[in-house]
Amino acid sequence: MANELPLHIGFIMDGNGRWATRQGLSRSEGHVAGANAFRRICEYGCDLGIKSMTFYAFSTENWKRPPAEVAAIMDIFRDYLREAEERKLENAQKGMHMHYMGGRDGVPEDILDLFDTAENESINATRTTVNIAVNYGGRAEIVHSVRNIAKRVQAGELAPHEIDESLISAGLYTAGQPDPDIIVRPSGEYRLSNFMIWQAAYSEFWYTDKLWPDFTEADLDQIIADYAKRNRRFGGV
Ligand code: IPE
Ligand code: IPE
Ligand code: MG
Repeated sequence: MANELPLHIGFIMDGNGRWATRQGLSRSEGHVAGANAFRRICEYGCDLGIKSMTFYAFSTENWKRPPAEVAAIMDIFRDYLREAEERKLENAQKGMHMHYMGGRDGVPEDILDLFDTAENESINATRTTVNIAVNYGGRAEIVHSVRNIAKRVQAGELAPHEIDESLISAGLYTAGQPDPDIIVRPSGEYRLSNFMIWQAAYSEFWYTDKLWPDFTEADLDQIIADYAKRNRRFGGV
């Protein structure tokens, strides 16, 4: 039997730099093109009524990049979030709820404020949750969850034997959302790069050599069609 529409799709938005090099452009221009692909896919996924989409935009490891490239990426976040502010009514009509997903330490304050505004203004939208993973690392996310659990144990609110998988999941940035049914990685790389490592326990994977800035609505159609044919067994028969 064909699977239904995936409830949650994760996108590792990779290949912006290589796309730019091939076009004779700067890496920053590649990130601008990547952000446009994000706008396309995000909008189309909302139109299709996908419940959750997670876009990996900047990892905890990406701080290693040259400062000018990091600054250019931060400027792209600012541009997108200001635009989201201008389009808040339209986004609300689409039922799009935006959610910041990542650690806050080290991220410029004005960007966090813009994310908080976007998140608060879309709090009543329930059709599609769009998680934007910024300063995100799957391991750091697990540490964050476990630390909060440890505090509760220390306060005597929780006994160690009460710690279970659902409690750890509930402390992740994706609390309350289904685990990703399928994770998409473009640009010919075959790795998670610290993306949703807890939530990906039973995710399907979808790879392509295509670079992220070249992603179109037709690719999302293909992902959904391929997903429908996957046989998910979850350890059963
Ligand atoms: C992904 O594209 C964007 C970020 C990691 C911020 P890359 O910049 O990693 O592109 P490639 O992998 O160098 O082509
Ligand atoms: C993963 O891409 C992170 C994002 C897309 C935000 P990277 O380009 O950073 O991953 P690696 O370094 O090739 O594993
Ligand atoms: Mg890359």
